[in-house]
Amino acid sequence: MRLLTPLKTLSRLLTPTAKIIDGKKISADIQNGIKEEINGWVAAGHKRPALRAILVGDDPASCTYVNKKMIASREVGIDSDTVRLPSTISQEDLVKKIEELNNDNNIDGILIQLPVPDHINEREICNAVHVDKDVDGFHVTNIGKLVANQDTFIPATSLAVIELIRIIGIDTFGKRAVVCGRSKNVGLPIFQMLHADYRNELPGLEATAIMCHRNTKPEDLVMYCQSADIIITATGVPGLIKPHMVKEGACIIDVGLTRITTPEGKSKLVGDADYEGCLARAGYITPAPGGVGPVTVAMLMKNTFKACKNFDRQRSNQK
Ligand SMILES: NC(=O)c1ccc[n+]([C@@H]2O[C@H](COP(=O)([O-])OP(=O)(O)OC[C@H]3O[C@@H](n4cnc5c(N)ncnc54)[C@H](O)[C@@H]3O)[C@@H](O)[C@H]2O)c1
Repeated sequence: MRLLTPLKTLSRLLTPTAKIIDGKKISADIQNGIKEEINGWVAAGHKRPALRAILVGDDPASCTYVNKKMIASREVGIDSDTVRLPSTISQEDLVKKIEELNNDNNIDGILIQLPVPDHINEREICNAVHVDKDVDGFHVTNIGKLVANQDTFIPATSLAVIELIRIIGIDTFGKRAVVCGRSKNVGLPIFQMLHADYRNELPGLEATAIMCHRNTKPEDLVMYCQSADIIITATGVPGLIKPHMVKEGACIIDVGLTRITTPEGKSKLVGDADYEGCLARAGYITPAPGGVGPVTVAMLMKNTFKACKNFDRQRSNQK
């Protein structure tokens, strides 16, 4: 028995452990860079970037997300504010409010915090945002540009995943990638960027990508994941990615965030991957929370500053 403890310690030391991708640190670095750029931009006499979020209703999670985005945006020097509207607002009045912001030359970026109440047509609302102010990349034209490999606003969460892969230096060229989840706002843009040609106006990552979804057979999901160099999971299904599904040394980016109640009765946010189990198999892994989420906020700022610079260029061209 006495020998077991040192042996256990030794085996733990010998077990390969994934490098943990620290989203908070990466996000802080990106935000510092954006802050510096905005300071320089404003000091050079340009207009300060301005962002408006529209929050319909008072869903606590949505309120928290919007507040976080607005506070962080203000910290980097973006003029940011939330337009709060009652959950009873009609589709027509909501569109009118969006059009007001569309026509306000001081505003560069508009985001509608989703989900909106059931009586509101979400697609129509996303399409009501001026295409050049659509910093969330949800307008159908911007989705089309993404698919056509043209420069556009990539949805912040998907852009965060792509930035993380680039910053960590994960090789994607000709590598096998599996994306779990096909939503238009998260999984699809990630899949699109992963498999696209790097020679495009919007340079892709040149991976061989496979997309899995709720109707992918569980045995197929296991098979695809086992052969993948990169697994990106965005399903909201806790425990979907298990250690035996992970090729040794693979990179796992976990976008999923689900609130669960632990056996001890505590409320906890978890990702899609069995984090503790996958640590021993993967080469890189994002914690969830603390991985993709913080970088998502930084990408919203990046998109807002990009919109501001685009408008500045348009104004200069008109002179
Ligand atoms: N970290 C962040 O910044 C951030 C941002 C947005 C969303 N999220 C989280 O990412 C997750 C996905 O968000 P979403 O908006 O795309 O959700 P969604 O409900 O729109 O999409 C979920 C997707 O998962 C797929 N899916 C469900 N079960 C599956 C299974 N067994 N195998 C493979 N695929 C399966 C579905 O087909 C669907 O395409 C959620 O947990 C959400 O909370 C995180």
